[in-house]
Amino acid sequence: MRVLSGVQPSGTLHVGNYFGAIRQFVRLQEENECFFFLADLHALTTVQDPARLRELITDLATGYLALGLDPQKSVVYRQSDLPEVTELSWYLSTVTSMGLLQRCHSFKDKVAQGVVPNHGLFAYPVLMAADILIVKSDLVPVGKDQKQHLEVTRDVVASFQAVYGGDVFVLPKPLILDDVAVVPGVDGRKMSKSYDNTIEIFGPEKPIRKKIMGIVTDSTPVEEPKPTEDNALYHLLKIFAPDETEKAWVERAFAEGGVGYGDMKKRLFEYYLQTFGEARARYDELRSDPAEVENILRVGAATARETTAPLMDEVRKTVGIR
Ligand code: TRP
Repeated sequence: MRVLSGVQPSGTLHVGNYFGAIRQFVRLQEENECFFFLADLHALTTVQDPARLRELITDLATGYLALGLDPQKSVVYRQSDLPEVTELSWYLSTVTSMGLLQRCHSFKDKVAQGVVPNHGLFAYPVLMAADILIVKSDLVPVGKDQKQHLEVTRDVVASFQAVYGGDVFVLPKPLILDDVAVVPGVDGRKMSKSYDNTIEIFGPEKPIRKKIMGIVTDSTPVEEPKPTEDNALYHLLKIFAPDETEKAWVERAFAEGGVGYGDMKKRLFEYYLQTFGEARARYDELRSDPAEVENILRVGAATARETTAPLMDEVRKTVGIR
């Protein structure tokens, strides 16, 4: 299967990004032909500080590699290095109805939050359709929140076909990643940069430890059993516990009492370091060799351009531009 997915460099990589997406990417690359890219053009719809964007792009590229995306197994590239994506996005725009885009939840949500939408934000799903269709992906692993965008992609394929006939595009299927459906943040809500409740994967240990020690808990006394429902600490411990023995320890600690929340948080920090220790070391190594990361992205873009060239020729001919 050909698999494609992307992440926007619009915030620092956090635990939710890993368990919700990147971990699955790493698994998928073992048995599929994978394309994983940095959606830097998409990020422009919200990040409009050039120095910050550059930093976020480097951070995400380095993070992808440090967490196990392997350029020997996957094509890893930056969206903007494949200019044909924006070209295809335009062809798709001309067959996409305004109404279809006006119905998109993520657009409506942003507007409801008071964001004054730019055209890029409105056209976001069309650019996403171009990302997906340009490499003829069969399968697109995404979080639940992106499911509608996959439906838009399929609708766009149908309207292109209705106008031009033929079947130049492969109809992609979403692979909804709800394996760890929702990773809670330190305040108990879904971990998300917009709630400012994230635990970062990279960066200095001290502030991360502080965040973990600051996870919101109730006031159950040390010796009593602790509630597990709606308990962010419980869910994080279960997500991080490295093996069955540790998972059983977590269950017992909550069911039997005798372990205070402070000690549980210390245990969570240990799990965190066990989970990400290697990746964190690799991240630091790669950050000191930015040329290596650049090179990987360049090679990835070249491979992606080769892969997509025949489709682009066909699309141009189909619409009458060539
Ligand atoms: N919209 C996706 C997100 O925010 C990122 C993305 C852009 C993407 N283009 C894509 C994901 C294509 C999958 C396929 O998570």
